[in-house]
Amino acid sequence: MAAREHPRRNAAIEARPLGYALGGEILGVDMRDPLDADTVAAIRRAWHAHHVIVLRDQNASPDDILRFARGFGDLDDHAQTPFYRKDGYPELLEITTKPKDGKPSETRNVGRNWHSDYAYTPRPAAASMLYCVEKPPIGGDTMFCNMARAYETLSDTMRGIVDGLHSVYDISLVAGFYERDPAEVAETKRLNPPIAHPAVKVHPESGTRALYVSERVAYFHGMTAAESRPLIDFLCEHATGPENVYRHVWRPGDLVCWDNRTTMHVALTDFDQNQPRHMLRATVVGEPSGFVVD
Ligand code: SIN
Repeated sequence: MAAREHPRRNAAIEARPLGYALGGEILGVDMRDPLDADTVAAIRRAWHAHHVIVLRDQNASPDDILRFARGFGDLDDHAQTPFYRKDGYPELLEITTKPKDGKPSETRNVGRNWHSDYAYTPRPAAASMLYCVEKPPIGGDTMFCNMARAYETLSDTMRGIVDGLHSVYDISLVAGFYERDPAEVAETKRLNPPIAHPAVKVHPESGTRALYVSERVAYFHGMTAAESRPLIDFLCEHATGPENVYRHVWRPGDLVCWDNRTTMHVALTDFDQNQPRHMLRATVVGEPSGFVVD
C-alpha cells in the first residue's frame, strides 16, 4: 500500500482530539513545505496539549522527514544504536520487518514493551517522529499513554514517594533484545550501561511533571530489585490502563510525533510478522540527564 497523493499547502493549523487522555490530529500541514516559525509554534502548542500528534496523508521522502523534524530541535544521529540506522541516513532509524541483506531485520521487534525512547542513554529523546512507509493489511498498531496524567492521578503520598526516586534503565530489558545479532547486542550493551534518571520528569518547556518509569526499569536507585519490582509494576499498570491510552492504527503516509517526556509507547505484535511493516523514525534529542550506575 503506497501513501496517497494529497497535495496541500500549510494554511490554518487545527488539531482535533483523537483520544480521551492524549492524541490529536493536526490538519493543514504538508511536510514537503518549508516550515515557518508560526507553523512550528502552532504544532508545538498542539503537541503540549495532546502529547502525541498525528499528521495524515503525507507523501514524505526521507529528506522531507528530516527537514520537518529539524524544525523541532537537534536530531540524534543514533550513535547509541548504530546498527538500526537507515543506510546513508544516520538521523533516521529504520524500523522494519523486511529482511535486510538476506538476513532477518535487526529492528523487526523494536519497541515491544512500554517505554520512552532512548531512556537508557544520557540524552533521552525529547521527541520522536515516526513515519509509516508501509504497513500490514491488518494491525501493526502502536499504543501511547499519558505519563503526565499518570503522575497527576497518583495519591499525594505516592507522588511524594516517586518524586524522590531515580529509575535505573537497563537496555537488556528491551523486549526481544537477545533475539538480535549477538555481536550487535554486545556492542549495544557496551554503549549503553545502566543509567539512573529521575522517576519524575519536569518538562523543560511546559513545566508539566510526568512519571518517568517504564517496563525497561530494572530497579530504583538505592533500593533492591525485589523492593522496587512491585512499585515498578504498579506504576506501569497504572500508567497503561485503557483510560490513559491512545491506540494509533497506522496508514501509509502517517507521521506520528510524540513527546517522550510525557508519554510512553509500545509497538504491538497484532499482525502477521511475515508482512512488511516499514517505518522511519527521526529523534529530537533532549537535555542531558542521569548518571551511569555500576
Ligand atoms: C519505537 O518504539 O520507536 C517504534 C514504535 C513502532 O514501531 O510502532
